[in-house]
Amino acid sequence: MDAERAVGGPAGEHARAGEEAQGGAPRTADLTGSPGAAAATDPCGATDPSGTTDLLLHGDITVIGRLADSSNETFLVEVSGEGDLTWAIYKPELGEAPLRDFPPGLYRRERAAYLLSESLGWHLVPTTVLREEVPFGVGSLQRFVEHDRSAHYFTLVDDAPETHDDLRRIAVFDVLTNNTDRKSGHVLRGEDGRVWGIDHGLCFSARPKLRTVIWDFADERIDADLLAAVAPVVTEVDDEIAALLDDDEVDALRRRALRLVTEGRLPVDLTGMAFPWPLV
Ligand SMILES: Nc1ncnc2c1ncn2[C@@H]1O[C@H](COP(=O)(O)OP(=O)(O)O)[C@@H](O)[C@H]1O
Ligand SMILES: [Mg+2]
Repeated sequence: MDAERAVGGPAGEHARAGEEAQGGAPRTADLTGSPGAAAATDPCGATDPSGTTDLLLHGDITVIGRLADSSNETFLVEVSGEGDLTWAIYKPELGEAPLRDFPPGLYRRERAAYLLSESLGWHLVPTTVLREEVPFGVGSLQRFVEHDRSAHYFTLVDDAPETHDDLRRIAVFDVLTNNTDRKSGHVLRGEDGRVWGIDHGLCFSARPKLRTVIWDFADERIDADLLAAVAPVVTEVDDEIAALLDDDEVDALRRRALRLVTEGRLPVDLTGMAFPWPLV
């Protein structure tokens, strides 16, 4: 290992992370059930089941409740249209807790992370769109993944070896996106067994800020297929992704891609402090 691959930005800047935002929230959502028709729109666990993007983009939105374990004002909503129904996670800009080290508009990074995951061919972020005419104003809308509520990164790494390659891929994604908030609970296992990454509002800073719980694969060689997927980002970032970020953030994304491809290994946390809080 070498110091160049060491990571860990200042741990204190994300002062509000983990704090529950206050305000006029609706009742807390019960996430144990699901809308009856959801299965019809998400039959096979495909990353973008037919019509999901359209439904998220154009469907009528009914707020079900505010998520109790969210650090911003994040809502579970029902999206319906033309006989289809799904649940989604709505993150309005108005509900974002102000941060010293990220500008307002974190919801845009949710969309950028989704687009990047799609362009890499990794499909690890549930379909995420931007909406304007929504109950609490502009924000992101992400397909709700039916998942095992008892599973998260720590349980998967301990008890589900069949997910480890997916976890490695998320680790690479987090280095590439400079994820500052990869808590254990930001890794979901869908009911179909697929592994998903969520909550990418604190990604893409131009300054090194990786904070993650995924250190079990540190210093491992990165699979050649993953590096091949990252390689194009060295020279070109999709226009739609670039439009969601600042220019220096786009340059930094390309530099991180170059570093990943050049070094071919997952980084090591020499500081021992590159963790988000709380861990789950
Ligand atoms: N796409 C999703 N599918 C299913 N559950 C989700 C999804 N996104 C978020 N959640 C649930 O909502 C909680 C809060 O969401 P999160 O994205 O972490 O919000 P915040 O930005 O407020 O921290 C998560 O811990 C998870 O339980
Ligand atoms: Mg979160």
